[in-house]
Amino acid sequence: MNVLHHLYINPLEKCNLHCRICYTRKTSPILTEKQILDFVDRYQEECEVQTVTLCGGEVFTLPYITHFINILNQKGIFVQVITNGTIDRLDNMERPNFINLIVSVDGLEDYHDKNRGEGNFQKSIGFLKKAKQLCFHTEIFSIVTRQNLAQIDKFEKFINDTLGKTDITYHPRKPLDYLRRHPISNIQGDINGFDFLTDDELITLIKTKKTFPPKELGCYQISLMSDGKIYGCCEGFEPIGTIDDTINHLIESFKKKLQTSCCNCIQPDFMCGMKKILNY
Ligand SMILES: C[S@@+](CC[C@H](N)C(=O)[O-])C[C@H]1O[C@@H](n2cnc3c(N)ncnc32)[C@H](O)[C@@H]1O
Ligand code: SF4
Ligand code: SF4
Repeated sequence: MNVLHHLYINPLEKCNLHCRICYTRKTSPILTEKQILDFVDRYQEECEVQTVTLCGGEVFTLPYITHFINILNQKGIFVQVITNGTIDRLDNMERPNFINLIVSVDGLEDYHDKNRGEGNFQKSIGFLKKAKQLCFHTEIFSIVTRQNLAQIDKFEKFINDTLGKTDITYHPRKPLDYLRRHPISNIQGDINGFDFLTDDELITLIKTKKTFPPKELGCYQISLMSDGKIYGCCEGFEPIGTIDDTINHLIESFKKKLQTSCCNCIQPDFMCGMKKILNY
């Protein structure tokens, strides 16, 4: 089962930014480097780890993170980092070719900075430029609301002209059905100037662009969160265990959950709050 070779780790929820439409609570727990390294090592003893995806919060605020990434790379593990791209610690990572930096850019400068704060667009674009020069793999995640939907063509042209060919995955702003049901990531944030997409707009976006969750779903993997709980996917809300459980127990719980799920979603009643749109 390929998916078992990929771990998702969210060591913290704290962040250096306060984006107006961020849906995550900035709770206090922070996993130490030792905790996550021990977890990866224990996992590796039972099942080969090929890729680790790091998310938060903002992982580049963690003093240990580049050291941790270098250690994973030395073990032959490919690392993906989802980041806002405003903290440049690129020079501290030793193996750019083993790292994919997924930087969040929400559209053109005015709009991006309205959400993320003045000056942050230039920082994130500068981060991407430098990362490309240093031969990191790079990608963009971009939140879509009604206000930047019409900008997408211009945005893609800007990215292409400025950075060259760069893969963009669009994240429709988490719908209210998601925020109402998720017990932790449930902040609504500002609506004024950042309206949720209508169902028709969502459907068109999903049909015409690369979006998250992916069209065929299947976006589950063992996911360790900052409070030590482990879920069956990065948006999970029903834990399958904790960081202290045996790896075999976690893998069995994960498989059991997959057996009882359907439609390629580990939480079929939820589907990131998009069930009715996804037509299951
Ligand atoms: C919670 S952030 C953590 C990583 C990092 N701080 C960042 O901004 O990239 C993970 C992803 O969620 C996206 N995101 C934040 N709020 C969102 C929302 N309300 N709807 C959809 N995606 C959102 C971010 O843009 C980012 O790509
Ligand atoms: S979207 Fe990312 S950068 Fe913005 S507040 Fe949320 S966690 Fe921080
Ligand atoms: S809830 Fe379903 S659609 Fe959303 S990330 Fe998890 S597996 Fe994917």
